[in-house]
Amino acid sequence: MTAQSTARASAPGPAGHPFLGMAPAFKRDMLGTLMAGFRDHGDVVAYQFGPRWGRPPLSVEVIMAHHPDAVHEVLTTGRTFSRRTTGFQVLTELIGTGLLTSDGDVWLRQRRTLQPLFTPRRVAGYTELMTAEAARIASEPGVESGSTVDLHQLMQLYTLRVVSRALFGDDVDEAVPELQRLVPVLGDLALARALQVVRPSLRWPTPRARRIVRARAEQYAIVDRIIAKHASRGAGEDGDNMLSRLVAARDPETGQPLSAAEIRDQVLVFLLAGHETTAGALTFTLYLLGRDPAAQERVAAGDPGLIRAALMEGMRLYPPAYSTERLADVDTTLSGYHVPAGTRVMLSSYVTHRHPEFWPDPDRFDPDRFTGGHDRPRYAYFPFGGGPRSCIGEHFALLEAAVLLRTVLARYRIEALDERLPLTPMITLRPAEPVRAVLHPR
Ligand code: HEM
Repeated sequence: MTAQSTARASAPGPAGHPFLGMAPAFKRDMLGTLMAGFRDHGDVVAYQFGPRWGRPPLSVEVIMAHHPDAVHEVLTTGRTFSRRTTGFQVLTELIGTGLLTSDGDVWLRQRRTLQPLFTPRRVAGYTELMTAEAARIASEPGVESGSTVDLHQLMQLYTLRVVSRALFGDDVDEAVPELQRLVPVLGDLALARALQVVRPSLRWPTPRARRIVRARAEQYAIVDRIIAKHASRGAGEDGDNMLSRLVAARDPETGQPLSAAEIRDQVLVFLLAGHETTAGALTFTLYLLGRDPAAQERVAAGDPGLIRAALMEGMRLYPPAYSTERLADVDTTLSGYHVPAGTRVMLSSYVTHRHPEFWPDPDRFDPDRFTGGHDRPRYAYFPFGGGPRSCIGEHFALLEAAVLLRTVLARYRIEALDERLPLTPMITLRPAEPVRAVLHPR
C-alpha cells in the first residue's frame, strides 16, 4: 500500500472562533496556543485561520508538525516541502532576497558562494574580536556601577558589535541604537502581516503598509551607509572581513560575482539574522543560569563542554528561531496524517523541545541533558534547523556565545532578578520585558 492510502484523514485540531478561526488565539498567546494544541491533539495539529466554512484564500488551514520524525521529513525533503510560504513572502517584502529568503536556483547559487565564509576554520579567525567585545561589556555603564542591567539589551549590544566587526571590519556603534529600535518594529509588522488572512499589496497605502515601507527604507538606509563607508575606505585598508569577501566571492561553478543588490540583501540578512538570534540565546541562557546558582557555579568553572551544554539547554527551552514553515508542494503524509498539496506546514522547536517522550520533565533547566551521550532522534532538537536550509551561521553563533559566557561568568556572578520570563514571539523569540539582572564581580 502507498503512504497516501494508509494515511488517516485530516489532522485533528482546536475548533477556534467560527468566523476568525485560530487567528485571535495566535495573536493573544501564540506559544500557549501551540502548547495547548500539542497537549490536546498530539504530534500533528491542524489550525484553521478564517471562517470555519471558508475556502482559500479567505480561510486557510495550517498544519503544525511536532514529532521529530515529521520535523526530519519537512526539513530534509526539499522536493516535497518548499520555502514558498506566506511567512517567507512577508520576510522577502521586508528584507529582500538574501540567503534566508531566496529559493530554488538563486538560493543554491548564493549558498554555494557564501558557504566558504562560514567554515569552522574561517569562523575561528573571529575568536579574538569576539573575546575583545565580550571583555568590553565590563565597561558598559550599568555593569561597571554594579546596578541593575537589562541582559537582553547588553547581549544585543555584544552581538551587534561582533557581527558588524566580522562583517565590515569596523564597529557600527552609531547604528546600534537605531537597529535596536528597528528590529522589534520590523518583527511586529512582519508577524501581524503574516497572520493576516488576506494581504493587500504594500502599494495600497494602508497604515500598516506605510509603516512597513518606512521601516524598510530606514533599515536599507542604515545598511547603505555602512556599505558606503566600507567602500570609501578603499581596498588597501580593507581587512579580512565578510563584506570584502562578499565583494570578492565568486560562484564556484559559474565564476559569477554577487550583484550590488544581492550584496546589500546579504549584508542585511547577516546583520539581522546574525545578531538577534544569538542575543536571544545568550539572554535566555544567562537568565536561566542567573536563577540557578548551583548550575551557574559549575558552568563558571570554565569547562568548555559544560559551557556548550548550558547554551544548548538554554536554546532547548527558549529556541531563538522558535518556528519556521514550509509549503507542501505535493500530496504527502506526516505522522500518518494526510497533508494535501498547497498546505502550510509549520514546525516549532519551542514545542518539539518540550516533547515529553524525548525530554523528561521538559520544563526543568538541566545542562546535563547535553553532557555525555544521549540516545535521542536527531530532530528532537533543532535550534539551527536542519537539512539543506540549516543555519549557515551555526559555528559562528556557537563560538560567539561560548566566548561571551566564558568571559562574563569568569568575572561575574549573575543574579537574575525576575522569577518569570515573559516572551514575545516575533520573527525570533524575544523577552517581552527587560531581563533584569545584577552582575556581581567575583
Ligand atoms: C544562536 C544563534 C542562531 C540561531 C538559533 C539560528 C537559527 C537558524 C535557523 C533555525 C535557521 C533555519 C530556518 C529555517 O529552516 O526556516 C537559520 C537559517 C539561517 N541563519 Fe541562523 N541562527 C543563528 C545565528 C545566525 C548567525 C550568527 C548568522 C549569520 C552571521 C545566521 C544566518 C542565517 C542564514 C543566512 C540562514 C538562512 C540559511 C539558508 O536558508 O541557506 N544565523 N538560522
